[in-house]
Amino acid sequence: MHELVVNADLNKDEQYSSLLPQIDALCEGEPDLIANLSNISAALQQQFHWWWVGFYFIKNEEMVLGPFQGPVACTRIAFGKGVCGKAWESKGTIIIDDVEKFPGHIACSSNSRSEIVVPILKNQEVIAVLDIDSEQLSKFEDTDKKYLERLCDFIATLF
Ligand code: SME
Repeated sequence: MHELVVNADLNKDEQYSSLLPQIDALCEGEPDLIANLSNISAALQQQFHWWWVGFYFIKNEEMVLGPFQGPVACTRIAFGKGVCGKAWESKGTIIIDDVEKFPGHIACSSNSRSEIVVPILKNQEVIAVLDIDSEQLSKFEDTDKKYLERLCDFIATLF
């Protein structure tokens, strides 16, 4: 593996366009899921400097914390609970501009202000989610949804 090329001067579209092929390359030839998801969370963090970025796996009917970058987080989340549990339930991406206005939000950190959760689906079933938190309000929009959903389609192939 070579060093990640990170260019903060690009617009968001360009940042994702630069990062996603590098993530593909990073995982190429590596069969270990935890190793790959660890590097993917690190690559996203290196490019975007979010407050928290990581994965929850569906295991035995609940969500369990997976590889992540950021402060310690809740280890288990029930179906339908919090933003993560809602994304699992709805099988769709959820963007929250202000977590204080989302009634079920699970506050793992009081610094978290906005959030995006993208489900990872295999055979139409949610097998994990990618959860990203920002300490700024309204940090996530359609561009993030578009590229992160594309990334999660790729991530599904790693399982
Ligand atoms: N805020 C999330 C819980 C996970 S942490 O943010 C890492 C939620 O409401 O599902």
